[in-house]
Amino acid sequence: MHTSSAPGAAFLLGEHAVVYGEPALLCAVERRATASVELIERERDLIKAENLDLSGFTASYSHGETDLTGDAGESLSYVTTALDAARNYLDSEQRFRVEVSSDIPIGGGLGSSAAVTVATLHAVFNAVSYKIEREELADLSNGVEVEVQGGNASPSDTYTSTMGGVTYIEPGSGVNEIDAEEIELSIGYDGGDAPTGEMVAMVDRRRKNVPEVQSTIETIGDLVDRGLDAVRSGDIEELGTAMNINQGLLEAIGVGGGSLARMTWAARDAGAVGSKLTGAGGEGCVVAVPDSPEIRSCMSLEGEYAFSSCQAEGVRSE
Ligand code: PMV
Repeated sequence: MHTSSAPGAAFLLGEHAVVYGEPALLCAVERRATASVELIERERDLIKAENLDLSGFTASYSHGETDLTGDAGESLSYVTTALDAARNYLDSEQRFRVEVSSDIPIGGGLGSSAAVTVATLHAVFNAVSYKIEREELADLSNGVEVEVQGGNASPSDTYTSTMGGVTYIEPGSGVNEIDAEEIELSIGYDGGDAPTGEMVAMVDRRRKNVPEVQSTIETIGDLVDRGLDAVRSGDIEELGTAMNINQGLLEAIGVGGGSLARMTWAARDAGAVGSKLTGAGGEGCVVAVPDSPEIRSCMSLEGEYAFSSCQAEGVRSE
């Protein structure tokens, strides 16, 4: 078996706005998805998932048709679409046995599906001994997310999961790895999840109907640039200020949520200089700076659990 793992990703700033051409700033986090792959001589792929933060499943797959046992949620589509993307890229009919697992909260705003996709593709290319460039792997993974999510998926999560560290996403002109000072995050999880596609579609409708939503999105883009300078110079106060304003603006465009707001304030009351939701919003995770045991324990009282993270390494072979 060839095993690869890829990290989740937290938006320090800029989710949603990045879908409409604004930049975003992300940090890879210390929770990972793992995929093990081997080549098989069969008609169908064999896929098994355990510990995907959901009950496990087994499935066989061929040409868009899945035979499933268990509850796969959305995770299975990312794996099967990734396998088809790899076959297409390699111009091959090869079938695979794949085992995936993850300790990233599923659908909680930490790029869990991107990490599953990136780890699966990396392990597949290793299994066929094809050396793929990381940029190409990130592009291919983004293509999988776009296909599964029906059109609206920025390269933010897939790129950050591939490269690791801190990334600055600049739609139109590319994605950049940032030489950032060490960032330590407290991340709180409320136990819920939100469908990214629906949250993105909701913001899109509001943006088209309410001009102030469009101007708020542009203001979020300005905050990302302020945050970029802050992470380069290690100015956590300045990053925190931008995060707090970003949280207010995310609530203004309609992607806040009660438990996310409670965790955000619990973090600030415990000494965080910045805290905000990450990802699609509604429910899921809050990211706070700096990291401290007090911040984590206050967030977990309002949610399900909290953990600490600094910049994680990108996709790697295990
Ligand atoms: O919740 P996640 O990890 O799927 O992140 C969604 C981030 C959005 O900006 C809302 C959508 C995107 O494709 O960037």
